[in-house]
Amino acid sequence: MTYTEGMLRDGALNNKTIIVTGGGTGLGKSMAAYFLKLGANIVLCSRRLEVLEATARELEVTVGGNVLCVACDVRKPEQIENVIAGTIEKFGRIDGLVNNSAGNFISPTERLSYKAVDVVVDIVLRGTYYFTLAVGKYWIENNIKGTVLNISTTYAWTGSGWVVPSAMAKAGVLAMTKSLAFEWADHGIRLNAIAPGPFPTKGAWERLFPEELSKKFSFESRIPLERVGDHQELANLAAYLMSDFSAYMTGEVITLDGGEVLAAGQFNFLKEVTDDQWDSIEEQIKTANRNSKKSE
Ligand code: HXC
Ligand code: NAP
Repeated sequence: MTYTEGMLRDGALNNKTIIVTGGGTGLGKSMAAYFLKLGANIVLCSRRLEVLEATARELEVTVGGNVLCVACDVRKPEQIENVIAGTIEKFGRIDGLVNNSAGNFISPTERLSYKAVDVVVDIVLRGTYYFTLAVGKYWIENNIKGTVLNISTTYAWTGSGWVVPSAMAKAGVLAMTKSLAFEWADHGIRLNAIAPGPFPTKGAWERLFPEELSKKFSFESRIPLERVGDHQELANLAAYLMSDFSAYMTGEVITLDGGEVLAAGQFNFLKEVTDDQWDSIEEQIKTANRNSKKSE
């Protein structure tokens, strides 16, 4: 068995209906495919209906199961209401929401217009809040113990230059995850988040690692485990968090990044030190210790 294989047993998500925002592409598509395989009904929503429908056709052939596609800009509450109404009409209820939609691109912050900041913050923070609020109200009114999974980033808490609007918005999403996990625990509603490291997708790579950069920098060399993530690894964690197996977990943010975020460790630069250098360093430290004992 290996990390590129599905982890949960067949039927782990039977009888659950899960909405995946941005589920037509990238990580959203991979999570949706695995949820479907585990028995869930899936609702895909994002701005481009033709992309969603192409994904749904592909999944129905490769995986099977039931997929509903609804066009929705997560910045528009009335379009979110429309997804909720369509889901209830087709599947009878909603059990889970994955807030995966995002907008992002790299840029020196001083080059950004006001609109460029708004567009990212509105999709990531406002869109996640609007969708969570709408589904949460429905759950509370109908006494359903639903589950939310937010797709965040590790720079939500480390911060990162050149993606400042995204970092601000993802940090807000984390604050929302923890705040609502406490507030809505009374209703049995759980909220968790995943902070992925680099998982190659067309959407992220075109906007964050265009060719000019990817020729110059490689992720593998910066990641302690020396590779990028595999979509199935993320789908495995997401499926666990959407399933009843994680029933006791809420308000948690799980990092899945091969150790990338640990690079901030103050002495991690010592990775460059060779064994010979360690022999000499050890000797220098021991000598200094002996000398300081003598002078006490
Ligand atoms: C500076 C830019 C810019 C750039 C857009 N803008 N790209 N400014 N540098 N590279 C500015 C525009 O000039 C405009 O401002 C404003 O942003 C809105 O741009 P539009 O193109 O009109 O917006 P829209 O068509 O709505 O597109 C939204 C988008 C786009 C966010 C800009 O990239 C998009 O659709 N993204 C969706 C998918 C996505 O981003 N996926 C990646 C997620 S990956 P003005 O003032 O000029 O009108 C991710 C991973 C993180 O989050 C971690 C990885 C390890
Ligand atoms: P992606 O394929 O570009 O996915 C982004 C999705 O968001 C698209 O399907 C897009 O669909 C949708 N979207 C954008 N604006 C929207 C809007 N206004 N309303 C509704 N949907 C909208 O990129 P990805 O790499 O899979 O990213 C998925 C998630 O993982 C994001 O939250 C991202 O921040 C996170 N993440 C990714 C990585 C990585 O390495 N890939 C790392 C950390 C975090 P439409 O264009 O059809 O609307």
